[in-house]
Amino acid sequence: MATPKRTPLISGNWKMHHDHLEAIRMIQKLVFRLPVEIYKTVDVSIHPPFTDLRALQTLIDVDQMSILLGAQHCHFEDKGAYTGEVSAAFLKKLNVSLVIAGHSERREIFGEDDDMVNKKVLAILKHEMTPILCCGETLHEREAGGADEKVQRQVAAGLAGVSPADVARLVIAYEPIWAIGTGKTATSEDAQAMCRVVRDTVKDVAGAEAATGIRIQYGGSVKSSNIAELMACPDIDGALVGGASLDADEFAAVISY
Ligand code: PGA
Repeated sequence: MATPKRTPLISGNWKMHHDHLEAIRMIQKLVFRLPVEIYKTVDVSIHPPFTDLRALQTLIDVDQMSILLGAQHCHFEDKGAYTGEVSAAFLKKLNVSLVIAGHSERREIFGEDDDMVNKKVLAILKHEMTPILCCGETLHEREAGGADEKVQRQVAAGLAGVSPADVARLVIAYEPIWAIGTGKTATSEDAQAMCRVVRDTVKDVAGAEAATGIRIQYGGSVKSSNIAELMACPDIDGALVGGASLDADEFAAVISY
């Protein structure tokens, strides 16, 4: 069987960094550093804080930038009494194309569980955007031999009720929690092995076609010095990049691996 063709997706998760003025400067620098041909081979998304989205939407539109606008989180209801929350419907109105769901920081700091993450995945799809469903184990879970099981559970729960056709166009980010923001990247062998576990789980829950189509990102201390090795792995189709996406030179170098 021919090797499936999946366009790599490199996503910058800015977390709570860059206000809207800094975000404008950052995206302008980033676009300036990337050759236009790069977008033929790699999809690039940025996921700034909510307050930056409107300014970046306008800039991307006016300057016809090829960067995809992403968000870091959303609420699963379209509207209602949810103080402080932002709905998938609102994000769609801002031309957001990809929304991260179930990042480990949301799960650990804000108490999101698998059921909430699944509802968000469904809401993001309902509004015709692409979820980036995150999964990954803690160091303790890895050392206790429970990494595969944790990831299998998070993936199966996150995809509950999603049609196989929708699963095929979704993105999953495997991010070992011990590698996030620590400077410790998983070895490419470990990252590949876990991304294979993710793909096998997708096959079990949504079938072979969905497993072939879905894009799987690795995340956790990805930088320009380790991206090429990770991207050479057969089951790694991109990266979810935190710290290294905050600087235009470094993020451009990651994207140009
Ligand atoms: P990091 O973050 O690249 O800073 O480790 C990745 C993430 O949390 O998505």
